[in-house]
Amino acid sequence: TDRPLIDRFGRRISYLRISVTDRCDFRCVYCMAEDMTFLPKKDVLSFEEVETIASAFIARGTTRIRLTGGEPLVRRDIMDLVETMGRRIGHGLDELTLTTNGSQLSRHAEGLFVSGVRRINVSLDTLDRNRFAAITRRDRLADVLAGIDAAQAAGLAVKINMVAMRGVNDDEIEGMMAWAHGRGMGLTLIEGMPLGEVGIDRVESYLPLRELHASLSKRYTFSPMAKTTGGPARYVHVAETGGTLGFITPMSHNFCESCNRVRLTATGQLFLCLGQDDQVNLRDALRDGGVAALDGALDHAMAIKPKGHDFILDRDHAAPAVARHMSVTGG
Ligand code: GTP
Ligand code: 5AD
Ligand code: SF4
Repeated sequence: TDRPLIDRFGRRISYLRISVTDRCDFRCVYCMAEDMTFLPKKDVLSFEEVETIASAFIARGTTRIRLTGGEPLVRRDIMDLVETMGRRIGHGLDELTLTTNGSQLSRHAEGLFVSGVRRINVSLDTLDRNRFAAITRRDRLADVLAGIDAAQAAGLAVKINMVAMRGVNDDEIEGMMAWAHGRGMGLTLIEGMPLGEVGIDRVESYLPLRELHASLSKRYTFSPMAKTTGGPARYVHVAETGGTLGFITPMSHNFCESCNRVRLTATGQLFLCLGQDDQVNLRDALRDGGVAALDGALDHAMAIKPKGHDFILDRDHAAPAVARHMSVTGG
């Protein structure tokens, strides 16, 4: 491309996360409140608009797109979008991926593969049914496990995302690793981030992954791997299990200097950093000024993308760093 998206800090933006809905069939305690107000359906972008925006990004050098939510598979007719976006793979797009809670995967795994998706990330914080019900506020572990089976059977590579929480699931980390690696899946641990008022004590459940990495590396043989996905995770290969373990450490180690991404919400706001409010309204640009205005809005976005986030988590900062919930941008 002759006009790549480069921000004022020289970072090349080549990865777009598209949240197709902020709705979800779960209510994970670190992500949502039980009682959520969702974005008005009338403001949600049509698939045609999503495709137009995605095309504008691809024309300017975006090679990877990840669909997120809320839960992406609860959006009506979502597989129509996956199918059309899948046709761009090999034509500007290198890969189309999905981050899902797995609840609807049994139905959709094959369709995803047929549309060209080759790897997905499934959020799963525990293998214990009661704990699962407590964390997600829904008793649906069996559906998620069936969904993971279906995904692997369909040929999709699966990575498990686990939000690591002190006193909640930290005793399961090694068990999850054995389980995931034993099935040929990667496991990535994530530090909880302070987005949105959710009604749990984030300070109490905060588990610094730097320390966990240090203690695990005394018992396992870790070999650091070269960055492969362009994401924020740092991966190690674990000799004992033969699998890959990732660490996403927005709290204890910020990785913003190598940020390559921006996030589109279901209503067409482009958020420029997960930990900041800076945004550009692509929906209005497109609706009022067409593709030329949309293209100009992307230039504006590059001019205002913040340097990074600086999440603070302590008793003196009771309010979350960012008021919107994680489900608005899908992580
Ligand atoms: P790949 O690297 O493509 O496999 O994906 P990923 O691990 O970046 O994506 P995924 O959707 O699985 O996200 C996992 C977690 O990483 C989520 O909790 C995201 O919120 C977090 N995450 C992803 N990108 C960023 C980022 O730019 N900043 C911060 N702070 N967190 C991020
Ligand atoms: N902090 C960290 N990760 C979160 N996720 C949702 N909310 C938070 C939060 N506050 C995770 C989900 C999913 C990914 C997209 O984001 O578990 O794996
Ligand atoms: Fe839904 Fe994912 Fe948020 Fe859980 S973390 S409530 S599955 S969007």
